[in-house]
Order: sequence, then C-alpha cells, then structure tokens
Amino acid sequence: MDFNGEEPNIFEGISTAGTGNGAKVYLETYGCQMNVNDSEVVASILLANGYSITQEINEADIILINTCSIRENAETRVFGRIDLFGQVKKNKPSVIIGVLGCMAERLKDELLEKKKIVDLVVGPDAYRELPTLLRAAESGQKGVNIMLSADETYADISPVRLDKYGVSAFVSIMRGCNNMCSYCVVPYTRGAERSRDPQTIIHEVEELVRNGYREVTLLGQNVNSYSWSESKGMVKHTVNFADLLEMVALVSPFLRVRFSTSHPKDLTNDVLYTMAMYENICNHIHLPVQSGSDRILQLMNRKYSRNSYLNRIQAVREIIPDCAISTDIIAGFCTETELDHDLTLSLMREVGFDFAYMFKYSQRPNTKAARHLVDDVPDEIKSRRLTEIIELQGKLSEESKKKDVGKRFEVLVEGTSKKSDDFYVGRTTHNKVVVFPKEASSIGDFVLVEVTSCTPATLIGKIVDE
Ligand code: 5AD
Ligand code: SF4
Repeated sequence: MDFNGEEPNIFEGISTAGTGNGAKVYLETYGCQMNVNDSEVVASILLANGYSITQEINEADIILINTCSIRENAETRVFGRIDLFGQVKKNKPSVIIGVLGCMAERLKDELLEKKKIVDLVVGPDAYRELPTLLRAAESGQKGVNIMLSADETYADISPVRLDKYGVSAFVSIMRGCNNMCSYCVVPYTRGAERSRDPQTIIHEVEELVRNGYREVTLLGQNVNSYSWSESKGMVKHTVNFADLLEMVALVSPFLRVRFSTSHPKDLTNDVLYTMAMYENICNHIHLPVQSGSDRILQLMNRKYSRNSYLNRIQAVREIIPDCAISTDIIAGFCTETELDHDLTLSLMREVGFDFAYMFKYSQRPNTKAARHLVDDVPDEIKSRRLTEIIELQGKLSEESKKKDVGKRFEVLVEGTSKKSDDFYVGRTTHNKVVVFPKEASSIGDFVLVEVTSCTPATLIGKIVDE
C-alpha cells in the first residue's frame, strides 16, 4: 500500500448546511491510502452531522489527526504534531483535539495520560460514534471509543473525496487483516479482516463514474483474500477478488481500475487473467516481498518462499507480459545476516522491480516479533543495508523508466504539475508519473503521451495524436 509518512493530507475547506453546530474541523491524515480513505469517511460523517471542514488550523474549533502506527517514526511525527496542536489550544482553550486511527487504538491510555490536551481518542472502527464523542468532548468529558468491530465496513457511507480535481478515488473493499506478519501492528490496530458487500462497492463506483471520476483504486490490506458469501435459497454464492475486480471493471470501460495491496501467498492466476482480460484494469501490481531470504520470510510469517514469490512473478509476466511490478522491502529484520541481505538484493535484481517502498525494520510493541524475536541488527547496519537497497532500486527504477523513452502511453491527466503551471501530471497504466505540456488537454482527459526523457522519479513527454 502507498505510504505517505512525510507529508500529511489535509482536507480542503468544505461546509454544508446541517443540523449540527457548524463547528469547523481541521483534519490531518498520516499513513496509508486506507487512512486517507478513512478520513474521507470521517469527513462524510462530520458533514452529515452539521460540522464543516476547514484547512486553516487557526480557524478550527476541532483539530483531528488520523494517525499511523506502522513504524516508530510515524508515531514520533504524530506526537510532534500533537504538541504543536497544544500551542494552538493555548491561544484558544475551547479547541477540541482528537486522535483517530491506529495510534488511538494502540496508545489510548498513553495519549490520555501523557497528552492532557487530547480530548478525543477514536479507533478505526468507531468513526460513526464521532458526533456523539464530540458532544461529550464539547461538554468537558473525554470522548473515547477504541472498540474494534467484526463487521464494520462503513459500507453505506459515501466518502467525501479528498482529490480536489475529482479524477481518482479510493474505494475500500475490506478492512483489517488476518495475516499476522510477525513485524506488523496492523492486525492489532485495525482488527480482523472483513469484506464489504460487493453491491455497495459497485454502487459507490457507479456513483463515482456519474460524478466524472476516471479512476478507482480498490483498497484492502490483502485484497486477494476478499471474499463475500451470500445464500440465495439453498445456493451459496461467493464473490472472490477476481469476481469483484471484473464487476468493477464492467461498471464503465472508461474507468481505470487499480488495486492495492496484494499478498504474494494469495495472488491467484484468476486475478491475473481478469487483469489481462479487461483493458481498463491497469497493468500494475503491488506485490510486497519484504525479504529475499527464506529464513527471514519464515521468521516474518509471510507464508511464501523466495521461490514461490518468483513463481508468482513468472505468472504475472506470462499472463500480463506488459505489467509493472512494485514492492515493499524491510531492511534489518531480526537476525538478518549479510547473506540474507544479499538475497534481498539479488531478488530485487532478478525481478527488476519498477518501484519500491523501502523501510528500516522498526520493532512494534506486542507484535509477534517483539514478543519472540530480538531486534538485534544494530541501527547503523540497518541504515547501511537500507541505503544499499535504495541505491539498487534507484538503478532499477531508472532502467524501468529509460525503457519507456520513445514509447507512447495512454495517460490520465490528474492535475497541474507542482513544478510548473504550464505542465500537467498524470500516470500511465504502469502507475508511472508523467509530466507534459498542457496543450489543449484538460484534467480528467485520457491523452496519448510520447515519453521523450526521464528524471529518476518522473517520465517527461508530450501529447501526440493517435
Ligand atoms: N517495520 C518496518 N516496516 C514495516 N512495514 C510494516 N511493518 C513494519 C515494521 N514494523 C512495512 C511493510 C509493509 C508496509 C506497508 O510497511 O513493508 O508492506
Ligand atoms: Fe501487516 Fe502482513 Fe497484514 Fe500487510 S498482510 S497489514 S504486512 S500483517
């Protein structure tokens, strides 16, 4: 799943007429795409209850921070933000400060004890309670709910979209995770896996198409284990991820479909055949490998081997010859030796990933690894190995981009380039970012772009006729 640990997503100002008190909420989001989508659900719940959204922290009556626990530095960053919100509260004591999401779930007591300025602590399955909890906070109590749910999917809530251009939207298809990778805090903060009713997913996608959206990304911690069963009379009908992907692709041929994240142990050929069959399903798969060493994969409880991962890659290459593959890699997991690390580097070369998110192992309290393994790779060694991984991926990403120079790609125009108002930015089916002069195109168009050059992070091109 894409991670944006550095820059928060902040909602643009929105207001609605409502039954509530019109109080202004400032909402800042850290972490994965799922968190971004959760904030869209939160905004929807708040707007429906008469709150409004502001992007000016100093104007806010309520400051909410949707948080991530995946690595220690994500949490440190949020603690820093909470201290800053404390400064805002000094000048305006009536301001309510709320912590949402994974850190709320994991650190409720610590937040309430150590950060006295926090009025509201709400876990990922309790957002429907926000209006009630806010009222409690407004009357001077602490508003707390971190109950995890076996069935909450917010299926009936239409998220308020963060993408100001209205081109690309996230659609959550499931919540939680049952995998118990030994390093990962997600099963504890987001609870058990549950899939969302496919009909509600299709309705949401249809609504997006009606509103002019041109791309959806289906989100789940492990989309390949999506499963929804329904009994019609005596017959039990099950929708798996390949079925759902096809249903979404069929909503409109003009809607691009992406998904994230796939677990290598569950990626079936059926999903790959569905991707190959529908033009509008993008040729990109995010398949986190984490390590190239069987010994480490086993300690991580990933339930696949280096060989079986490579078999999946081979299946992708055979079934969808023109498919980009990205991954996640962790450097310096417990007991990792130089040999294990070299196996990660050699696997990266063997696959030739187009893109990767790369992290230093960060021990998370109460996970299996924290309980049963020793975080024994010294920090300097973790850093050095991570640097080697990043450098190698830099070369692989560059090679992958250089191969695109001279080729033409259909690009969805997603917005104006941050660097120049004369350029648009969009992505290819392979999820590669392309920058090109605007010419006569508009945001939301599909245009044919010829790639003329590339930088380490971006393709550069120009619009061409068919
Ligand atoms: N330390 C470092 N990276 C982690 N990830 C998950 N947990 C940890 C951790 N404790 C990474 C994995 C996962 C991605 C979302 O975050 O690579 O795929
Ligand atoms: Fe964490 Fe593993 Fe679940 Fe991903 S699949 S959220 S890494 S436990």
